[in-house]
Amino acid sequence: MDIKKVAVIGAGTMGRGIAQVVSTAGVGVSLNDVNEEILSSALGTMAALLEKSEKKGKISGEDRKNILSRIHTTTKLDEAVANAGLVVEAVPELLDLKKETFKRLDKLSDGKSILATNTSQYSITEIASVVSDASRVIGMHFFHPAVVMKLIEIVRGLLTSEEVVMTLRDFSTKLGKETVVCRDSQGFISTRVLLALRLECYRLLEEGVASKEDIDKTLRLAFGHPMGQFELADFSGLDLEPPICESLAKVFGDRFRPPQNILHQVKAGRYGRKTGKGWYDYSK
Ligand SMILES: NC(=O)c1ccc[n+]([C@@H]2O[C@H](COP(=O)([O-])OP(=O)(O)OC[C@H]3O[C@@H](n4cnc5c(N)ncnc54)[C@H](O)[C@@H]3O)[C@@H](O)[C@H]2O)c1
Repeated sequence: MDIKKVAVIGAGTMGRGIAQVVSTAGVGVSLNDVNEEILSSALGTMAALLEKSEKKGKISGEDRKNILSRIHTTTKLDEAVANAGLVVEAVPELLDLKKETFKRLDKLSDGKSILATNTSQYSITEIASVVSDASRVIGMHFFHPAVVMKLIEIVRGLLTSEEVVMTLRDFSTKLGKETVVCRDSQGFISTRVLLALRLECYRLLEEGVASKEDIDKTLRLAFGHPMGQFELADFSGLDLEPPICESLAKVFGDRFRPPQNILHQVKAGRYGRKTGKGWYDYSK
């Protein structure tokens, strides 16, 4: 299977990064969102990042122009998926919305194209249940920021075909990424490990054992993590966490029950960097 065009559905934090990664590898991208303004903002983000890379000498001016010219934006899903060998869904982390999107993708896409979801935790098998041929549905989990992070976690649903797994592994290599493959299990490898660590950091703060600054400093300096968990949570968006914890707790029990302090941040609309305030203050 040779993938010559990729459709990315959802142009938010992840979708725009994934589109840039794909285009940088020389593959055409159709970036879709329900909101025209978000598509313009996505193009603006990508242009600014590419300009930075050019200034640092990582790419040429010609490269920058070519990468941007390979990205086409549209609010029309049928237009986005036409002739795409791979569709990567990156709409918000809501299971019903994802299933609704896959129902539409099933109808609109070429029956042979790979349908991938960037979900951080939902069951690939359940998302695939609304598609007539579940063997072409797979998890393709990029990390934020997609342009920088080296790993793609490939998640095999119960019915995902071996050919689709192999094609996606090869394509990820073409994107300059490393891969890990796991079977469908709530939270896969990455989200399960991450949330276990993060919730323990929140509990340390809630119990008054240490300040968030010192907990973050411990992770950075004792364990070599590039960021502490409070910093990283602010970077990714705190609003994503309660639904993820809820789903993990349903399967694994109380160890994934979120402490009050994270729930209060979200109730107060303090989602981290994207709202200017979260665990830390970015308003200045
Ligand atoms: N943010 C992260 O750090 C991160 C990391 C890895 C994976 N993910 C996963 O990636 C997915 C997207 O997360 P995000 O942080 O980019 O979310 P986001 O809210 O930043 O972006 C989602 C985008 O989808 C658009 N959208 C909503 N409904 C749509 C529809 N029906 N069709 C097309 N577009 C639609 C929204 O307008 C928005 O622009 C989620 O499944 C999330 O769990 C997020």
